[in-house]
Amino acid sequence: MYKDLEGKVAVVTGGSKGIGEEIARRLAKEKMSVVINYHSDEEGAKESVDMIKENGGDAVAIQADIGDEEGAKALLDAAIEHFGSLHLWVNNAGMENKSPTHQLSYDDWTKVMNVNLNGVFLGSRTALNYFVENDIKGSIINMSSVHDKIPWPTFAHYAASKGGVKIFTETIALEYAHKGIRVNNISPGAINTSINAEKFEDEEAKQKTLNMIPMDYIGKPEEVAAVAAWLASKEASYVTGTTLYVDGGMTLYPSFEKGDG
Ligand code: BGC
Repeated sequence: MYKDLEGKVAVVTGGSKGIGEEIARRLAKEKMSVVINYHSDEEGAKESVDMIKENGGDAVAIQADIGDEEGAKALLDAAIEHFGSLHLWVNNAGMENKSPTHQLSYDDWTKVMNVNLNGVFLGSRTALNYFVENDIKGSIINMSSVHDKIPWPTFAHYAASKGGVKIFTETIALEYAHKGIRVNNISPGAINTSINAEKFEDEEAKQKTLNMIPMDYIGKPEEVAAVAAWLASKEASYVTGTTLYVDGGMTLYPSFEKGDG
């Protein structure tokens, strides 16, 4: 538990399922009030809110398209209206789809960029404005991926968006460090969430992924949420602009495991 998070206010984009849901839950356990953003999964978002409230926390579900300029503003407004302030913004919402690059439609490229990169910019800008105007030493956490570093054929748009998130995080971390605003990046590997559910139903596909994870298991959303809570807390007070890989070693070139090369 991180005592300093108690009573603070967080926005989590894409908080109705997967990693976002788990982060929202964990922050609520830390006694933060949480604005849970969802795009289309109203039921999932409401379930998250109910679960948080049953456990004594406070949360509200807000529909918003984070790839739209008005979306981020609606989330900030909700944080202020319901909980009176904002201290942490988690840009978690993301999407991915597979396509050989020579067949990738511009529409698919744009959709992925809009959610994964434009959404991170719009959310960060909204949070930064509020922090600067109100002199709040707030914090931003962006959700990237191991694919901000590992090339991922047939997911070029996804990899490009996540690479963008990483350098965007580093850049604004530098730009706002003197104001005491911290901006960090979490890059998960393969995690057991709905984004992967279909793929991991196929045992062969799952085994192929496992072969790329030195720690030999698919990560749990709680293991990512724990890192987010730590990064948000005072325990990470001197940490900014960093990228934390939460990937069971996936970024460690597992094919070199036996010393070949
Ligand atoms: C993707 C997952 C994938 C993992 C490792 C993540 O960014 O969302 O679908 O399993 O990277 O490749």
